Amino acid sequence: MGGADLVIASNRGPLSFRMDGTGTPVAADTAGGLAGALDSALRGTEATWVAAAMSEADRAAADAGLMTRPGLRLVTVRPDLVTYRMAYDVVSNATLWFCHHHLFDLSRRPRAGRGFAEAFDAYRAVNDQFARAVADTAAEGATVLVQDYHLCLVPGMLAVSRPDLRTVHFSHTPFADPNMWRVMPSAAGHELLEAMARSTACGFHTARWAAGFLGCLEDHAIAAPPTFAAPLGPDPAQLEARVASPGCRAARARIDELVGERSLVVRVDRIEPSKNLLRGFWAFDELLETEPHWRGRVVLLALGYASRETLAEYLAYGTEVEHTVARVNERWGTDDWQPVILDVADDSDRSFAALTRYDVLLVNPLRDGLNLVAKEGPLVNERDGVVVLSREAGAFEELGEATVAVNPYDVADTAAQLGRALALDRTERTRLAGELRARVEKRGAGDWLKDLVAAARS
Ligand code: F6P
Repeated sequence: MGGADLVIASNRGPLSFRMDGTGTPVAADTAGGLAGALDSALRGTEATWVAAAMSEADRAAADAGLMTRPGLRLVTVRPDLVTYRMAYDVVSNATLWFCHHHLFDLSRRPRAGRGFAEAFDAYRAVNDQFARAVADTAAEGATVLVQDYHLCLVPGMLAVSRPDLRTVHFSHTPFADPNMWRVMPSAAGHELLEAMARSTACGFHTARWAAGFLGCLEDHAIAAPPTFAAPLGPDPAQLEARVASPGCRAARARIDELVGERSLVVRVDRIEPSKNLLRGFWAFDELLETEPHWRGRVVLLALGYASRETLAEYLAYGTEVEHTVARVNERWGTDDWQPVILDVADDSDRSFAALTRYDVLLVNPLRDGLNLVAKEGPLVNERDGVVVLSREAGAFEELGEATVAVNPYDVADTAAQLGRALALDRTERTRLAGELRARVEKRGAGDWLKDLVAAARS
């Protein structure tokens, strides 16, 4: 049998498209850290990457032969769009994402009525299309790396159709604690775990998330496959080139002009509940209240990008974020000082430029598989900036000791730690920034990929 020796399967691929005014597909920035990080890990490997056409524009691009990437073979899975939306919106994003991040508002969600059962059929159908695409392309005994909660059923399906394959399932999210997994619709919850457990091995960014998975399996009396922790890291050379690009330099000049001599706190996140933007703004408000010497002397630049805008929870959260920022600005702003600048334009040049300039980087998710921004910032920052990091982010395991730690649920603590980080003296800032860079440089995207391949072959 011919075919590929290394196959990656992920919902989102390295390329995404939007329609221009004439109905022609044009390349767009691909949202989400996973696809970008995978792209740099896979560059030049000649691997086959199976990903979904997520929109009409992606389909049109695939039809026009635009889904190509040098050094990779891209295979596009094209589920019917209604089926795809049910799988992606209802099961992946509104249920699994919320469960793994412990975000459910339990008096209302999950509802798990007939609508969910229908959506789970759609999820099964999309996973089946992925499994078939992998089976069609993989060589005898090939290594298959299945990514994330969108594709939990794929390892189980491949174990039946292609038992010769070595399949690793890797979760980029946290994994729910067993008591939270009990909230999942019963049959679906069991089926998902059983299918993941058919993998050759299951990987996570930290031992803590692996332990969550093992606890859930135990609760369901399902035999556990080998598990491993393999944190992802950014590619330093690629980041360096990115921040040196004309687009980033121009964005940096605009930020310098905006901020002037003031201290700068930056945050860069997808606008969504697990990123905990609201408590970040409430904490900044408390800082200005409790430490009045910062009034007029510090700016919080919050760079958000919208995603999953078909979810009611996300839309409501985005509105609350805007109102909260407006309230902080009304309360403290003056004619020549806007305390919080919220920019939600989808502009990655601007985000990387801000990472070069921060004095403090605020990364305070409620729960996060890893958080790549916490690793990208220290690599490109030019001011020995301090990272204020949630102890609930996966990256905390590697970076925690070189950051200012926060309990993300505690606004008073976050305000105090922001104040502490802003006030650190030059010697301490330089020490922490050097230590952070050294920790981040220990592991790149290539190391992560090697760990996954090794887990498949062991
Ligand atoms: O940032 C990584 C991540 O959180 C992954 O866990 C996940 O696969 C991806 O984002 C999903 O994002 P999107 O819905 O934008 O594809």
